[in-house]
Amino acid sequence: MKIIITKNYNDLSSKAVEFVVKEILRKKSAILGLPTGGTPMGLYRKLIKMKIDFSKIKIFTLDEYYGLDKNSNNSYYYYMKKYLFSHINIPEKNIYTLNGKAKNIDKECYQYEKLIKKNPIDLIVLGIGKDGHIGFNEPGSSLNSKTRLVNLDPSTRKANSIYFNNKIENVPKKALTVGISTIMSAKKILLLASGIEKADIIRNALKEDMSKDVPASVLKLHSHLTVILDNRASLNI
Ligand code: GLP
Repeated sequence: MKIIITKNYNDLSSKAVEFVVKEILRKKSAILGLPTGGTPMGLYRKLIKMKIDFSKIKIFTLDEYYGLDKNSNNSYYYYMKKYLFSHINIPEKNIYTLNGKAKNIDKECYQYEKLIKKNPIDLIVLGIGKDGHIGFNEPGSSLNSKTRLVNLDPSTRKANSIYFNNKIENVPKKALTVGISTIMSAKKILLLASGIEKADIIRNALKEDMSKDVPASVLKLHSHLTVILDNRASLNI
């Protein structure tokens, strides 16, 4: 595991973009797994400015709310489209997302997992929830978990209610997410964390023993894990 500590969020985003671009330049047809949330926004802004060629790149998103139409303002598809996809030259057919309104959710998850097997992810970028979740793998998720439907913890729904007019009751109770084993199957993992509110969980995940209660703690087992933190998120390590 390599930990890079930067002095602020802007530097974290610069280091992250450097890392992602290096991967794309190394392999013009790289397959990426990309997250939503506030943390990767700076990375996406910088990536767009660099006008990188995405014509051969494939992108898998990591999760989606259950029951939300992909065009709803709160869907993760909408987020990715707004902050990244609509600004880069990635062909639509190279974008893979989970459909939260699929008629057969089990089939949707199974097929996504199969697609990832067929298109092994070179680099997966992750944020981290305050409870240690990665993607939407909440505490208790099994190391062997694959893409599936999960229940969201009330703390995650509360944290994400900022995108739902601060009304927790508007945040879906379930989501589809790639599993821990899906994440661990990526060739490289880049974990990003910013802000003082992530300092405790970063300590738990990186410095304490591995535990099911802290899903991100299993990332330590990966042979190519890089963690980029800003000064605040690194305060307790
Ligand atoms: C959501 C997403 C995660 C993300 C997490 C942290 O729950 N499902 O993929 O990593 O939030 O978000 P933020 O970066 O806004 O702290």
